[in-house]
Amino acid sequence: MREKSTLLFTSQFEKDVYEGLTQFPKQLSSKYFYDSKGDALFQEIMEMPTYYLTNCEYDILETFKNEICNYFKSDFNGFDLIELGAGDGKKTKILLEHLVNLNTSFTYLPIDISENALEQLKTSLYNELPDVTVNPMQGTYFESIESLCRTHQRKKVILFLGSNIGNLLHPQAIEFLLGIQNLMNKEDLFFIGFDQKKHPQTILEAYNDREGITEKFNKNLLTRINRELDGDFNPDKFIHWEVYDPESGTAKSYLVSKEKQEVRINHLGMNISFGAWETIHTEISQKYNPETVRWLCKKAGLEIVDEFGDTKKMYKNYLLKKNLK
Ligand code: AVI
Repeated sequence: MREKSTLLFTSQFEKDVYEGLTQFPKQLSSKYFYDSKGDALFQEIMEMPTYYLTNCEYDILETFKNEICNYFKSDFNGFDLIELGAGDGKKTKILLEHLVNLNTSFTYLPIDISENALEQLKTSLYNELPDVTVNPMQGTYFESIESLCRTHQRKKVILFLGSNIGNLLHPQAIEFLLGIQNLMNKEDLFFIGFDQKKHPQTILEAYNDREGITEKFNKNLLTRINRELDGDFNPDKFIHWEVYDPESGTAKSYLVSKEKQEVRINHLGMNISFGAWETIHTEISQKYNPETVRWLCKKAGLEIVDEFGDTKKMYKNYLLKKNLK
């Protein structure tokens, strides 16, 4: 029960936690995984052999870097390479290095909500690829691209790697792609990763590692609520549970309460009751087939220019442009 008489929230996080934990079934958004602890855990996930997505995309970029960079380059004014949610930029560095080797004129503009992540990326690029001009932009994706469009007139190439699109349900993914398409001009390109449907066991293992790193990543949501909203979740009283539906292609993560319990969240002035084996849905990681990708692109007014797959046929990167027809 909420004791505060008003529903005034001091942050979006507070509001989302309140709404997510008072609805049935309970849910929390995966966007809140990524505080500094969550960022570090996600780096660990990307190093795990079972989390095949990173290696597949790495393989694609390494194999096709020449074709991809030839699409990107512009003979006139150079171009702006904008990356949404750049993280540590490990995969992007393959393209950056190749663009430098091709003597291409471009500026790399990583966008991230975390100032700290951008600073680290800038420093590592300065050390590893000093010839790349880097102009980090801290903020949300759309605000940052909009402000860029106001000041820069040249060709834009937008990168959205890691199958980050998969954390959105189809209607939200269409809205997101449409938002990007609206900010694109005729010559602009959008390079995006879509994890493909595959053996269901491979997918389950990617999100359910034996070392428990994904479990820690999922439970970090509870720790974050404890720290930022003065809660008293005991993460040990929850289990991490992953399911994958091979029909819809949706992998879903849950936190499941092992027992009947009450959790206090002081900043919300409320207790949350959990029944034994009650769930909190925390993340979706959508897997695609080529038809679904084509359908999403069509809905969003985007046209597929080219596509690149890894040797194991597990993952694909698509090069898209605005559909002018
Ligand atoms: C960032 N995102 C695409 C990852 C995924 O595969 O859904 C996040 C993740 N969740 C658990 N493991 C990795």
